[in-house]
Amino acid sequence: MIFLLLTLTAALRLDCKDQCDGDHYCYLGQCYSCFYFRKQWESQIPDFGVLVGKGNGVPAYSCQNDMQHIDELQHFLQPNETGFNQTVYVGMRYQCVHFARNYWIQKYGSAFPDVDTADQIFNLTYATDYKNGKYRNLTKFYNGRTTNIRSGDLLIWNKREPYFPYGHVAVVLDVQLGAEEPFITIGEQNYDDIWDSNQYARKLKVSLSNFGLVYIINEREITGLQPQEKCKDYDGSADDVIVGWVRLND
Ligand SMILES: *[C@@H]1O[C@H](CO)[C@@H](O)[C@H](O)[C@H]1NC(C)=O
Ligand SMILES: *[C@@H]1O[C@H](CO)[C@@H](O)[C@H](O)[C@H]1NC(C)=O
Ligand SMILES: *[C@@H]1O[C@H](CO)[C@@H](O)[C@H](O)[C@H]1NC(C)=O
Ligand SMILES: *[C@@H]1O[C@H](CO)[C@@H](O)[C@H](O)[C@H]1NC(C)=O
Repeated sequence: MIFLLLTLTAALRLDCKDQCDGDHYCYLGQCYSCFYFRKQWESQIPDFGVLVGKGNGVPAYSCQNDMQHIDELQHFLQPNETGFNQTVYVGMRYQCVHFARNYWIQKYGSAFPDVDTADQIFNLTYATDYKNGKYRNLTKFYNGRTTNIRSGDLLIWNKREPYFPYGHVAVVLDVQLGAEEPFITIGEQNYDDIWDSNQYARKLKVSLSNFGLVYIINEREITGLQPQEKCKDYDGSADDVIVGWVRLND
């Protein structure tokens, strides 16, 4: 019995069609450990403040949780930079919340209130419209319970140890539900600090129910990429913790 189990495990480890379990990737029918690919990839992470991509024109910068830049972390936009009649708080450079708020400021002239952690954005009910000083309501959609998702929505991850102790937020840049393998692209800061393209950080897989309900899977879509790109996601970081998305109402 023990002998049989050992043989099975060995076979599973060695042979693959296109996927390997856990922290391995499939190359030419064999499973390889992600260890070396990930080490190499991590060695390419740029320093704090380096431009890592632009999502629909809005720049994202490397963060690395760098504490040497603590005194430059708080980012405010002055009236001469925005044309608004007041100073606008963007966030702590270059956390995930900073990119999300900056995206809404640049695109919609609006910003959601200060939050301590990214997951709290899911419970917010309004944003400030700096163009007219009024409030704009927010709508939240639970992952898997709506057919409704669009560019500009903020995708929210719940807190989960050890990878998401503060939750996470990304901006939905593009939605392709009609594709053979439906996906969205997202822009973000302080996830892995290297975007998969200069247009987006990651493509995430979408599962569509028969009724068209949209479920975003927290897993990189690597179709068309090298199989080892799978290793950019840690085994644990791909846990399903996307609670839903938040929209700025008109
Ligand atoms: C905006 O005004 C500040 C002073 O309040 C000045 O230091 C800064 O250079 C100005 N920026 C631009 C883009 O004009
Ligand atoms: C959001 O609100 C719900 C209901 O009040 C609460 O249970 C939940 O903990 C809140 N989530 C966050 C991240 O604050
Ligand atoms: C900015 O302008 C808006 C409307 O034009 C006004 O409601 C608001 O009070 C102004 N804010 C400041 C700080 O002057
Ligand atoms: C925004 O929400 C408030 C409180 O729920 C509601 O009274 C108001 O009518 C809403 N405004 C718009 C424009 O939907």
